[in-house]
Amino acid sequence: MTPTTRADCVELDRTDPLAAFREEFVLPEGVVYLDGNSLGALPRATPGRVADMIEREWGRDLIASWNTAGWWDKPRTLGAKIAPLVGADPDEVVVGDGTSTNLFKALVAALRMSDRDIVLGESGNFPTDLYVTEGAARLTGAVQRRVDPDGPELAAALATGDVAVLLLSHVDYRSGTLRDLPAITRMAHEHGALVVWDLCHSVGAVPIELSRSGADFAVGCTYKYLNAGPGAPAFLYAARRHHAVADQPLSGWHGHANPFDFAPEYEPAPGVSRFLSGSQPLVADAALEASLDVWAKADMAQVRVKSLAMTDLFLRITTGEEPGRRPPLRAVGRRPMVGDGWAGLESVTPLDHAHRGSQVALLQPEEGAGYPIVRALIERGVIGDFRAPDVMRFGFTPLYLRYVDVYDAATALVDVVETGEWRQERFARRAQVT
Ligand SMILES: Cc1ncc(COP(=O)(O)O)c(C=O)c1O
Repeated sequence: MTPTTRADCVELDRTDPLAAFREEFVLPEGVVYLDGNSLGALPRATPGRVADMIEREWGRDLIASWNTAGWWDKPRTLGAKIAPLVGADPDEVVVGDGTSTNLFKALVAALRMSDRDIVLGESGNFPTDLYVTEGAARLTGAVQRRVDPDGPELAAALATGDVAVLLLSHVDYRSGTLRDLPAITRMAHEHGALVVWDLCHSVGAVPIELSRSGADFAVGCTYKYLNAGPGAPAFLYAARRHHAVADQPLSGWHGHANPFDFAPEYEPAPGVSRFLSGSQPLVADAALEASLDVWAKADMAQVRVKSLAMTDLFLRITTGEEPGRRPPLRAVGRRPMVGDGWAGLESVTPLDHAHRGSQVALLQPEEGAGYPIVRALIERGVIGDFRAPDVMRFGFTPLYLRYVDVYDAATALVDVVETGEWRQERFARRAQVT
């Protein structure tokens, strides 16, 4: 069914196979939260799980918990819980540190596995990916090149045969464009390059098949679609075939083959544990574990179906565009304008499902309109966010969003734009975090 009215959405929510998950989250009254692609909502079980970790595991059992509560193995047990969400085997993923740190480890390890010296990235990637690549290149003597991964440049750059490592985001943080992970991995391998994937905007948002695609390395955060909380630990995937040779730069005792020998020389652990460095944030791990226990019950195929239906609905109401209906306005050489039947909003997120993640990014043609429109919407209880230079981002999280929420958010957005409500001066004042 193609929902067009609010009543249609109510009906879709009634038959939604994921509807019960909403109860697993704390969602403030009167808020439609479309920022789960930035910071996921709080699972209801998390405060209790964290309190238990603090009061019982730490407060009562003290140091015994390294053994009795499985603290030492948390990076591996949590990695095994993330593995099905990224299509990996349980012993190919570890949890620990942050995304930027893991990215550095994976990139340097991959660069050290190649005798080439080009590390290829994307020009528009999230800044930490660009900066970390710079640092990894400096350490290894590699040279960084950047291309637009959604155009012909990527194939051309790989075809030169001098790329050691390709780093790409699976879903672009700004536009929400989903890259063809299996096809790009295959193409990179055909040209002798290794691939590191950044899954920050795809884990928990789209089904991922790292092992089946032959991916080499991947990293991702857990505080967005995985709902583990602000600053939650990240994860790192390394294909099993690379475990014996991967030489990561932050060699620490948690990555040692026999850490309790306290040997003076470093000897990397045989498996993916060699990517660990030091002690991990175990309180934050408890929050991650609570959210992963929710994810263990979710079917990613159902999540994807609902995500696409929601982004279709949002696009249809806000821009009038949807797959197969008519060519996007940009494709026919025209920008939508207020007063011509559209709210003047244009999608920078691809319309075709094969290239869409779980977010919608919109532009309003007037320069500088994005930020105040998002602020005006937030005042109405619809929370999205803004990314420079002028993109309004809306994330869709099928576990806790209803179709009526999407309908209400989209119609509120159209109203804010059409009435000019966003032009009030207070909406233009920038907060520190946008
Ligand atoms: C693609 C991408 N990579 C990395 C990060 C963040 O890295 P970190 O978790 O180290 O802050 C983000 C944050 O939004 C991101 O979008």
